[in-house]
Amino acid sequence: MNEFAGSQHVIEFIYLIASALFILSLKWMSSPATARHGILAGEIGMVLAIAGTLLHHGIVDYKWIAVGLVLGSGIGIPLGMVHMTAVPQRTALSHAFGALCVTLVGTAEFYLRTPNVPKFMMSVLSMEVILGGLTFTGSLMAAGKLQEILPQRPITYKGQNLVNFLLFGVAVGSAIYLVLHPEAKQLFPLVVGVSLVFGILLVIPIGGADMPTVISLLNGYAGLSAAAMGFVLQNKLLIIAGALDGSSGLILSVIMSKAMNRSFSNVLFGAFGQVQVAAAGGQEARPVHSATAEEAAAILAAANKVVIVPGYGMAVAQAQHKVRELYDILSKKGVDVRFAIHPVAGRMPGHMNVLLAEADIPYDRLIEMDEINGDFPQTDVALVIGANDVTNPAARTDTSSPIYGMPILDVDKAHTVMVIKRSMSPGFAGIDNPLYYLDNTLMLFGDAKQFVGAIVRELGGH
Ligand code: TAP
Repeated sequence: MNEFAGSQHVIEFIYLIASALFILSLKWMSSPATARHGILAGEIGMVLAIAGTLLHHGIVDYKWIAVGLVLGSGIGIPLGMVHMTAVPQRTALSHAFGALCVTLVGTAEFYLRTPNVPKFMMSVLSMEVILGGLTFTGSLMAAGKLQEILPQRPITYKGQNLVNFLLFGVAVGSAIYLVLHPEAKQLFPLVVGVSLVFGILLVIPIGGADMPTVISLLNGYAGLSAAAMGFVLQNKLLIIAGALDGSSGLILSVIMSKAMNRSFSNVLFGAFGQVQVAAAGGQEARPVHSATAEEAAAILAAANKVVIVPGYGMAVAQAQHKVRELYDILSKKGVDVRFAIHPVAGRMPGHMNVLLAEADIPYDRLIEMDEINGDFPQTDVALVIGANDVTNPAARTDTSSPIYGMPILDVDKAHTVMVIKRSMSPGFAGIDNPLYYLDNTLMLFGDAKQFVGAIVRELGGH
C-alpha cells in the first residue's frame, strides 16, 4: 500500500467514527437526561471531522487554513457566549456562514471543472449553490429581524408569492439548462445571483417572532446544501452530516408548525404576525380575580398536586432559579410538583427544557403536554409562570381565533389556576386569553422572578 492510499484509509476511518458520533449525538440529544452526552459526542465528532479533513492529501499549504481557523475561532467564541434568548439569531448567523461557505465552494468547483462536468455532478452542484445562496441571505435576514436590526414586521406586496415563485423558477430553469449545456458558463452567476435575491424575498414576508420556525427550515436547507456539496467533493462525511442536519431541520420545522397548528406553506407564505398586534388593543376591560404573593403561597402550601407551566415570560425574567427554589420548598412540604412542557413554549425548541435543566430541576419532573394533559382535572393548582398562548382555551373552542386548533395545556381544568405575568398584555399570538377571566383563575401580577421570589419568602425560604 502506498503512502497516499494509507492516509486515505486513515481519513476514511476518522470520518466513519465522526459520522457515528454525529448520529449518536442526535439520538442522545432527544432526551434531557442524555443531552449533555449528545453535545459532547457532537463536539468530538466535529473535532475528528476537522482533523480528518486537515490530513487530506490535496492540502499543499497550511498557512491560509491556519489563518482561517484563527479568524473563525475569534468570531465563533464570542458568538457562542450570547444570552440564551439570543440563540435563535446566533443560530441563524451560523447557518448564514455555513451556507456562504457551501456557495463559495460550489462556485470554485464549477469554474475548476467546467466545461467537463457530468450531468449528475452539475445537478448536485446546482442544488448546492441554489440552496446555499438562498440560505445565506435568508439566514442573514432572519438574524437581522430577530436582532431587531431590520424591521420585524412582515413586508408584503401584491403578487409576492408569484414573484418568488418566478424567481425560483428562473434559478432552477437556468440550472437545468446548465446541466444539459455545461459550456454555457455565463448562466452560472445568474443561478447564484437569483438564489441570493430569492433568499431575501423568501424571508421578508415572515413576521420577526415567527422566525424560529423559518430558522429551523433554513437549517434544513443548509444541511441539504452541505450534503450536495458532499457529492460534489465526493466526501462521505459531508453527505452523512449534511443529510442528518437537513432532515433534522426539516423534521423540527414540521414539529414546530404542527405544535402551532400552522402548515408549512402558512409559515412560508402566510405573512404570519402582521395582524396580531392589532388584536391586542381595543379589548374592553373585563374583571379578573387577582391575588398577592402571600395568598398564592397559602394556596400552594395547602395543595397536594401542583403543576407548574413555564413560558416565554419565565425566560425573559430569568426566573428559573427562583422556580427551582419554589420547587424545593414545596417538595419539602410534601407537595407533588411537576412541570408541564408545551412543545412551543418560549421562542425556540426545547427553550423551557434548557432553562429548567440550567436550574437543575430533575428531568423526571418535566412532563410533555400529551402526557400531562389528562392529569389537570386532578391537579389542585396549575401555576402558570410567564406562559400565555400555550394555555389559551380559545384554541379548543373559538373557531375564529388565530390559534384555533393549536394543541394547548389544559390548565383551565385544574381546581385553581394561578397566572404570573406583569399585565393583561397578550403573548406572541397577540390575542386575549379567556383563561384569565375564569372563576377558578387568580392573576398574580408582577415580574416572574420577583413574584416567585416573593412566594418563596412567604413559604419560609430566602
Ligand atoms: P407567550 O404566549 O408569548 O406569552 C408570554 C407571556 O409572558 C406574555 O403574555 C407576557 O405577559 C409574559 N411576560 C413577559 N415578560 C414577563 C416577565 N418578566 N415576567 C412575567 N411575565 C412576563 O408565551 P408562551 O405561552 O410560552 O407561548 C409561546 C408562543 O410563541 C406561542 O404562541 C408559540 O406559537 C410562539 N412561538 C414559539 C416558538 C418556539 S419553537 N417555542 C417559536 C416561534 C413562536 P406580560 O407582558 O403581561 O408580562
